[in-house]
Amino acid sequence: MDVRFLACHARNSISQALNTWQIPIRTKTNDTSAYDNLSRKRHSESPLFYSAVLSHFPPSEYHTASFSKPSSRQNPMLNIGPYTLPNRVALAPMAGVSDLPFRRLCSEFGAGLVVSEMISANPRLRNSAKTQWRSQHDGEIAPRSVQIAGSDPQEMAAAARYNVARGAQIIDINMGCPAKKVCRKAAGSALLADESLVEAILNAVTAAVDVPVTLKIRTGTSPGNRNGPTIARIAEDAGVAALAVHGRTRACGFSGQAEYDTIANIVATTGIPVFANGDIDSPEMAAAVIRHTGAAGVMIGRAAQGKPWLCGQIAAHLETGRTPAAPTSEEQMGIIHRHVSQLHQFYGDFMGVRIARKHVSWYLAARADALAQRKLFNQLAHPQEQLHFILQLSDIEFEKELAA
Ligand SMILES: Cc1cc2nc3c(=O)[nH]c(=O)nc-3n(C[C@H](O)[C@H](O)[C@H](O)COP(=O)(O)O)c2cc1C
Repeated sequence: MDVRFLACHARNSISQALNTWQIPIRTKTNDTSAYDNLSRKRHSESPLFYSAVLSHFPPSEYHTASFSKPSSRQNPMLNIGPYTLPNRVALAPMAGVSDLPFRRLCSEFGAGLVVSEMISANPRLRNSAKTQWRSQHDGEIAPRSVQIAGSDPQEMAAAARYNVARGAQIIDINMGCPAKKVCRKAAGSALLADESLVEAILNAVTAAVDVPVTLKIRTGTSPGNRNGPTIARIAEDAGVAALAVHGRTRACGFSGQAEYDTIANIVATTGIPVFANGDIDSPEMAAAVIRHTGAAGVMIGRAAQGKPWLCGQIAAHLETGRTPAAPTSEEQMGIIHRHVSQLHQFYGDFMGVRIARKHVSWYLAARADALAQRKLFNQLAHPQEQLHFILQLSDIEFEKELAA
C-alpha cells in the first residue's frame, strides 16, 4: 500500500479522533462507577481515539492510574480534607506552564491532583489578562486546587474567599516560589524567614474559607536554616490539610540536587499528608523518594513538561509496580495537536501561538531533529500553520514507523 495513503489515513485518524474525545469526570468519592461508565461510553463512541491515543494505557491500567483502589498498607489513600485523591501523584503549580489546557491534559492522563499557576492575592491585579486566564477552572477537573501568592494575611484571606467563590475547591498557598518579590513585597519562599508571618497568613486563610487549605514550601530559607519542620508544625496547628515540599531551600534556587532528608523529617514531624517534590522525573525515582521520605505522595513539575502522561505513568507504577508505556510518537503527535489547538482556543490566536511554542519545544526535545523542527515551528505565526506543521510531523513519524 502506498505510504502516502497510509500517512494521510493516520493524519485523518488523528484529526477525527481529536474531535471525539470524552473526558472522565472525577468524583469526590472513590466511587469509580461513574468513570467506568464514561470509559465504556468513550470506548464505544470513540474507538479510534481510544486506540490511537490511549492504547498505551489499556483500560485496566489506565483505570488503575486514575483511581487508587481502596486502601492497602503500602498504598493508603490520600485525603485532602473531604477529597480522596484518585492516586498519589500531583502536578506541581508552574506559572506559565500549568494553565488550564495543560492541567486538563495531565488530569486526563491520570494525575491525581493538578494545581493551578499562582494567582496574586493583590486585588488590583484581578482584572489583568494574566489573572483572568489563571482564574479559569474546568468543571471536569476535581478537586480544583488554586494557588494564591501574597504576604498580607488579610489580603490572602480575601483572595482565598474570592477564588473559592469562583470555583476553587482547595486553596493552595505559595511559600515555595523563589521569586524575590511578588507585587513588590516578600512572598513565596521569602516568607519562610518570618515564621510569625507564616502563622498569621495560614491562620487568616484557614479561617476565611471552608475548603481545605494546602501549603507549598521549600525545606527552609538556606542550607544553614532548614526550618521546614517548624513551618510544617505551624501549618498543622493552623489546620492546613496537606503540604508540598520542594527539596531545596530558598537560597538554593534551582541549583544542585534536591535533598529528601529534610522532607523525611517533615513527614516524621507532622500528621498531615506531605507531597515530596523536586527533581522527580521517573516512576522509579518517585517510588524511591516515597520509600526514603515516607511521603504520602509526590509532586511532579518540570519532568511533566512535554509529557502530560508522566503523572499517570508514575501513579500506575506506584499502585501496581508496572509502568504503562508512554504514547508512541504517532500518538504523541495527536496529543500535541490537541494541546496546541486548546491553547489557541484558550488564549486566542496571538498569545496561543506564542505559548504553544514552548510546549511544542518540550514535546519535541527527545527527537534527533528537535532543534531544526523547533526553529521551523517558532517561525510560524498563525494557528492553522502550527496545526498543519504538527500534522506533517505525524506523517513523518508514521512513515518512519512503516520504514522500520
Ligand atoms: C516554570 C516554573 C514555574 C513555577 N511556578 C510556580 C508557582 O507558580 N508556584 C509554586 O509554588 N511553584 C512554582 N514552581 C516550582 C515548582 O512547583 C516545583 O516546586 C519545582 O519546579 C521543583 O519541582 P520539579 O523538580 O519537579 O520541577 C515553578 C517552577 C517552574 C519550573
